[in-house]
Amino acid sequence: MSDSLLQIRRAPATAAAPSEAGGPKVYIETYGCQMNVADTDLMRGLLGKQGYATAATPGEADVILLNTCAVREKAEERVLARAFELKAEKKKRPGVVLGLTGCMAEHLRERLTTIAPWVDVIVGPDGYRRLPGLVDEARGGISDPLVDVRLDKRETYDGLDTVPGGDGVAGFVTIQRGCDKFCTFCIVPMTRGRERATAPREVLRQVRSLAAGGAKEVTLLGQTVNSYRHEEARFSDLLRAVAGVEGIRRIRFTSPYPIDFTDDVVAAIAEEPKVAKHVHLPLQSGSDAVLDRMKRGYRLADFVAIVAALRRAVPDIAITTDILVGFAGETDEDQAATLAAMSAIGFDAAFTFAYSERDGTHAARRLPDDISEALKKARLGEVIALQEHISGRRMAAQVGRVEEVLLHGESKRSPDELVGRTGGFKAVIVPRAGHAPGDVVQVRIDRSTSATLHGTIVSK
Ligand code: F3S
Repeated sequence: MSDSLLQIRRAPATAAAPSEAGGPKVYIETYGCQMNVADTDLMRGLLGKQGYATAATPGEADVILLNTCAVREKAEERVLARAFELKAEKKKRPGVVLGLTGCMAEHLRERLTTIAPWVDVIVGPDGYRRLPGLVDEARGGISDPLVDVRLDKRETYDGLDTVPGGDGVAGFVTIQRGCDKFCTFCIVPMTRGRERATAPREVLRQVRSLAAGGAKEVTLLGQTVNSYRHEEARFSDLLRAVAGVEGIRRIRFTSPYPIDFTDDVVAAIAEEPKVAKHVHLPLQSGSDAVLDRMKRGYRLADFVAIVAALRRAVPDIAITTDILVGFAGETDEDQAATLAAMSAIGFDAAFTFAYSERDGTHAARRLPDDISEALKKARLGEVIALQEHISGRRMAAQVGRVEEVLLHGESKRSPDELVGRTGGFKAVIVPRAGHAPGDVVQVRIDRSTSATLHGTIVSK
C-alpha cells in the first residue's frame, strides 16, 4: 500500500443494490471553478464507459460524487455539510456509494476518513482514470474507504472522451493542468500538482468532438492558461489552431496569468475573429506591497501596461478581474490603492473575495492572517460597491450598440426570451422571435442594468 492509494480500515459496507433501470447510475455535484466542471465531464465519460448512466438527482443514484473545491475554508465547509446531508441518503439506501473527488479530496486526503467516515471513495484530480475501478470496488461491498490522491505530473487525460453536461452550446477543454506559480495565498499547486500541458493534437481532437456534438463555443482552461507551452507550441499557436476548427464560432480562455500576456498572445486575440474580445485578468490587489507578499510576479504598473497593450490592440476589449481583500498585513492604504486601481482601470466585472488562509501554503506558514473577519467584510463591501458602480457604467455604455450574441438558452424569467452572451461576456436577454440556443445573432442593445443587457435581434 502506498500513501497515494490508501485503504483505511473501517466496518464492512453493504453491497450495492441494483438500480431500477438495471444498470448503475451516478450523480455528480460540482463545486469550484470551471476546471472542476470540465473534470466532472471527464468523470461522466469515464464512468459512462464503465456502464454508469447519469442520474438527475442523488435520490435515484447508486453512486453520488461531490467534486469539490478547496480554495476557501467556506467552500470546504459547504461540501462537508452536504456530505453530512448525504449520509442520511446512505442510511436510507444501504449500498449507495458516496465519493469525494477534486481539490478538497486532495487537500484533506485521508483526514477525510476521520472527519466523514461514511465517505467510501476519496479521489484527487489526478486519479480519475482509476475512479471507475474504485467506485466498482466500493459497490462490491469492500469495507474500507478507498483513497487515491496520488499527484501525477504527466497526467493530462489524453485520449479520453468527456460527456459535456453544460448547455450544449458551449463546452470546456482543459489544455493545462496544475500550476507552477506558487502565489503565496493559493492552495491550487498543492491540490492540482505541477503544471503540464495537453498536446495540441489532443486539444484539437477534443475541440472537434465538442463541435461535432453541436457546441459553438469552446473555453480553453488552465490554471495559468496563457503560460501554455507544449514542445514548440505556444498558447498563441494553439489559439490560432483552434480557430481553424469548423463549427466553433467563439473561443474563450481562462484564467490567464497577467505577465504571460506576451505580444504573440495579444496579436492572436486581436487578429483571430473567433477569439472573444474578453480577457479575465486577475489583479488581486492594487498595492505593490501586497502583490509582493502574494508573490504575484508583477507590480501595479506592469499590470496597467498589460491592460494598455490589450486595449491598444483591441480597443473594445472587455476586461474582468479577481480582487482578493484582507490578505496578510493589508493596510488601509493598501485597500485604498486597490480601490484606486479598480477605478483607474475600469474593469467590466470583478469576482471579489475575502482572504481565507489555507494550510500548506507559504502564507499559512509565514504570513500571519492578521486582518479581522469584520475588517475583511468591510473591505469586501467597499470593492463590491465600487465595482457595481463601474460595471453599471460599462454596461450602460453598450446601449445603442449592435453586438454579436451567441444564444445559450432560455431566460429564467420567460420561455419567450432567450439569454446569450456578447463576445465581451456580457449577458444579453432578447425576445425569442423564432430563434434557438446555438444561434449567433446581431443584437441592438436597448437598455442595461449592472449585470444584464436587454436587446432586440436585428439580423442573423
Ligand atoms: Fe478550482 Fe477550487 Fe480547485 S477554484 S482549482 S476547484 S481549489
